[in-house]
Amino acid sequence: MIVLITGATGLIGQEIVKQCHENNIQVHYLTTSKLKLENKKSYRGFLWNPKIGFIDLDCFEGVEFIINLAGATIAKPWTASYKIDILSSRINAMKLLYDTIKQQGISIKHIVTASAIGVYPHSLTRYYQENFTEFDNSFLSDVVIKWEEEASRFENLNILISKVRIGIVLSKRGGALSKLVAPVKYGLGSAFGRGDQWQSWIHIEDLAFLFLHVIKHELKGVYNAVAPNSVTQKDFIQTLAEVLKRPVFLPAVPSFVLKFILGEMSTLILGSQRVSSKKIESTGFSFRYHHLDNALEDLLQKKSNT
Ligand SMILES: NC(=O)c1ccc[n+]([C@@H]2O[C@H](COP(=O)([O-])OP(=O)(O)OC[C@H]3O[C@@H](n4cnc5c(N)ncnc54)[C@H](OP(=O)(O)O)[C@@H]3O)[C@@H](O)[C@H]2O)c1
Repeated sequence: MIVLITGATGLIGQEIVKQCHENNIQVHYLTTSKLKLENKKSYRGFLWNPKIGFIDLDCFEGVEFIINLAGATIAKPWTASYKIDILSSRINAMKLLYDTIKQQGISIKHIVTASAIGVYPHSLTRYYQENFTEFDNSFLSDVVIKWEEEASRFENLNILISKVRIGIVLSKRGGALSKLVAPVKYGLGSAFGRGDQWQSWIHIEDLAFLFLHVIKHELKGVYNAVAPNSVTQKDFIQTLAEVLKRPVFLPAVPSFVLKFILGEMSTLILGSQRVSSKKIESTGFSFRYHHLDNALEDLLQKKSNT
C-alpha cells in the first residue's frame, strides 16, 4: 500500500510517516522544497508548487490514498498579507490535487485532509461535536470552512473524503508545547487571560494513529481529533509545571496584554473550545493518552523520538 502525503515534512507529517513505516505502508510525499527531497523505496519525495500549479505527476504512481496536511504555518504573525498566505496555501494545495486528479483521470480511493478545531467559535460552556454548524466569522473559522469546502469537492470525483479537525498537538519536537515548556522550566510559567478557556489537546502519536485508523476503516466525513479530556488553560499550565516539577507562582498574563502584543493572533491562546472525541471513539478508535498528565509525562520525562 502506498500513501501520498502533502506536508509530510512538517510536525504531524513526520509522525504519520513514522507510523506508516511501522505498518509497512510506503510513503510518497509532495514537498515545495528541493532540499527535502529523498528517494528511498519507502519514502519517495516529489516536488510541487501549488502557488503556480506545478506538480510532479509521478507522485501518484501506485497511490490509492492521500493524506493532505499542507499549509503555511499559523504560528507566524498574522499580517494582512500573511493571512492571505494561510488561506491560499491550503486552498491552492487542494485545488491542484483536485484539478490534477480530474484532468489526468487518476484513480484515488480516499483522501484524508487535516482541518482544525479553530472552526468552532470561542465558548466557555459549549461542548463541540462534529455536527455543530453555527460557525462565526473569525479568521480561523473562515479559513477552516473554506478549506473543508474545497475538500468536499472531491466527492464529485467519487473519492471518499474525510476531514480531521485537529486540536492542539502535543509533541516534543515543536508546536505549542515547546513554547510553553521553556517559561515553566525557568519558573516563569503562568496562565494566560482568565485561564478558564478550554484547551482541547491531542498527543501526536494518537493523532497519527487516528489518521491511519480513518484510512484503515474507510471512515467518511468529519472527525474531531482531540483527546477525551480537554482541560482549562490554567490546569494545562499547572499540570505542565507538576510534570516538570516546577512551581507556578506568577499571576496570569492579562488578556489585554496578549491582545496588545499579538493582535488577532491572541485568539490562539485566549480562545476556548471544548471539543468531543466521542465520534471517532464510536468507530473503535482508542486513545493511548486520555489524560494530559500521562501525555506530558510521556513527552517530557521519557526518552523517546516523538
Ligand atoms: N500542529 C497543530 O497543533 C495543528 C492543529 C490544527 C491543525 N493543524 C493543521 O495540520 C496541518 C499540519 O500541521 P503541522 O503542525 O504538521 O504543520 P507544519 O509543521 O507547519 O507543516 C506543514 C507542511 O506544509 C508544507 N507547506 C508549508 N507552506 C506551504 C505552502 N505554501 N504550500 C504547500 N505546502 C506548504 C510544508 O512542507 P514542505 O516544506 O515539504 O512543502 C510543511 O512541512 C496544517 O495544515 C495545520 O494547519 C495543525
